[in-house]
Amino acid sequence: MIHSYGTFAPADFMVLVHGGAGAVHQDALARHMDGCMQAARIAGELLAAGGSAEDAAVRAVTTLEDDPVFNAGTGACLDEDGTLSLDAAIMEGGALRGGGVCALPPFKNPVAIARAAMDDGEHVLYAAEGAARFAMARGFTPASEEDMITAVARERFAAVRDRGELSGWAGGTVGAVVVVRGHVVAATSTGGKINKRKGRVGDSPILGAGTYADDAAGACSATGDGERFMRMCIAKSVIDQLTAGATPESAARDALATMVARVGGDGGLIVVDRTGRMGLARNTSTMTWGAMAEGWSEPRGGS
Ligand code: GLY
Repeated sequence: MIHSYGTFAPADFMVLVHGGAGAVHQDALARHMDGCMQAARIAGELLAAGGSAEDAAVRAVTTLEDDPVFNAGTGACLDEDGTLSLDAAIMEGGALRGGGVCALPPFKNPVAIARAAMDDGEHVLYAAEGAARFAMARGFTPASEEDMITAVARERFAAVRDRGELSGWAGGTVGAVVVVRGHVVAATSTGGKINKRKGRVGDSPILGAGTYADDAAGACSATGDGERFMRMCIAKSVIDQLTAGATPESAARDALATMVARVGGDGGLIVVDRTGRMGLARNTSTMTWGAMAEGWSEPRGGS
């Protein structure tokens, strides 16, 4: 069953974030929603002060990367070697510029490195050691595993690899979509899947799969089963539906339903269109989110 939600009050600016599709236990749900609403609040304040959509998207996602409950940055899940291999991307919809990093060794904020790649403009996507080299050349400092790997991440890794108690599904990918007077940005960051093979890259850093933005239509960030999302180019398919006149909610819902019908898979999507309408859809039991828009006194959120 696909659950979806939308509002239809166009706003001059809006930020909508997700904390990943999955099955967050009831006891932890409030904590995850608080994290999303905090990210939306911080990014919303930046927008209210005149900040750019790009800055707000990075601010929202770095806030979520720094929160250890999410599967991105600090707290991200571990690969088969028991270490971090991080993916992130950002795209802006004006000149259709984008930047990403994948299979990145420990750095605190992969989405900030993705932004540096977008601003640099020479290449779109940097992988593994090359991504680390690019990051250090731009002034980012590698982090230690001790600083970024949490006890929960180690425990889940042991449960998957050593005890076969869990699937590799980690949930907890994070993302943001932002619109400022018709200019849209999408950003996504993740640790991927627990015990994933070395070198595995998911949908998040792939423009069109996990992340896409186009000022002609809107912006989308995905969370879920990356292999399926890549095969469907799902973020771009949402944008194509917006271009054809769909609302953000129906575009998200239809793209997810089409994916399930064609290749299966689980996950969720967040979408804003160029007028500031937002939509969400998931076929998992939870997808925590937070949003802040012009004229709202407080962020809104849900799961
Ligand atoms: N959607 C995140 C991943 O599969 O890596």
